Amino acid sequence: MQIGSITIDPPVLLAPMAGVSNRAFRAIARSQGATLCTTEMVNANALLHHSAKSYWLMELDPGETPVGIQIAGSDPDVMAAAAREAEAHGADLIDINMGCPVPKVVKNGDGSALLTDEDRAVAVVEAVVQAVTIPVTVKMRAGWDHDSITAPALAEQFERVGVKAVAVHARTRSDQYVRPANWDFIRQVKERVSIPVIGNGDVHTPADALRMMELTGCDAVMIGRASFGDPWIFRRISYYWQTGEELPPPTADERAQMALWHLERMVAIKGEAVAVREMRKQLAWYLKGTPGSAQYRQRCYALNTEAEARALVEEWREHAQDQELAWN
Ligand SMILES: Cc1cc2nc3c(=O)[nH]c(=O)nc-3n(C[C@H](O)[C@H](O)[C@H](O)COP(=O)(O)O)c2cc1C
Repeated sequence: MQIGSITIDPPVLLAPMAGVSNRAFRAIARSQGATLCTTEMVNANALLHHSAKSYWLMELDPGETPVGIQIAGSDPDVMAAAAREAEAHGADLIDINMGCPVPKVVKNGDGSALLTDEDRAVAVVEAVVQAVTIPVTVKMRAGWDHDSITAPALAEQFERVGVKAVAVHARTRSDQYVRPANWDFIRQVKERVSIPVIGNGDVHTPADALRMMELTGCDAVMIGRASFGDPWIFRRISYYWQTGEELPPPTADERAQMALWHLERMVAIKGEAVAVREMRKQLAWYLKGTPGSAQYRQRCYALNTEAEARALVEEWREHAQDQELAWN
């Protein structure tokens, strides 16, 4: 897949996820075959008010490429300025958020609220495209609710004003995360544009990824939650596309090593206290695949220090050592 001058091959992408797709996890995903990663959402207003958090969210690893910085907002001038800032910060592309369903975001007209206001959505996109020299993409839900599936018409407008690819999360805002994704929304967008369409939503396995591409004609798949505790998913998908077969699951050693690497990188970027708190859930996702794993996962939620976390992972490694682990 080609996004402007950026080649994405094989087209298996990590989804932008607040609280997850930070530098630590992007490095892991990239090492396991994610060919494009995007930062957590950066609020354009906060960025222009020089909020330290916004700059922190935009931090990239040295040599991290290709990487998108995702910005959210609904004022064309503010979004244009934020996009310039993100470009100066080293982004290879700017991704505009038109999917976030969170009330405090949509009440400002941002995120998925833009799906209800075509003029504003197009003005935002056009302003961002004009403001930067790098490619601009839009990540959108299908519409606000099932009575207003606006993504296909919007995507056509976005292509007209210079967007280089659209990612479609195949749910409406009203679906939140509860209703299953309806991949037909991706097909409907694909029918309307000639820029690449990235399919997203409920891809859990390599077979799902292939099925999504076959059913919708999308040019790439974007993986969110399936990467939790399974960053191998990117490589698994590429391998399955090439061979029609599943890679063998990681051994207990490989799982434990990945968990520890993730922990170490999180501690390096966030400091021990925050990193361990945020890693509780992540570690629990890594420590799975054996009949006796549940008790280790439960103990993850009581972790407070890096030493405790390391000791627990090592204990699980011993427990799982000689067992054959399953993927899910
Ligand atoms: C914890 C979490 C945080 C998310 N944060 C963002 C975000 O910052 N920007 C965005 O465009 N989508 C965000 N999303 C949506 C995902 O990018 C993706 O569209 C959604 O999870 C569906 O894909 P999946 O079924 O592969 O998880 C988030 C999802 C999750 C689970």
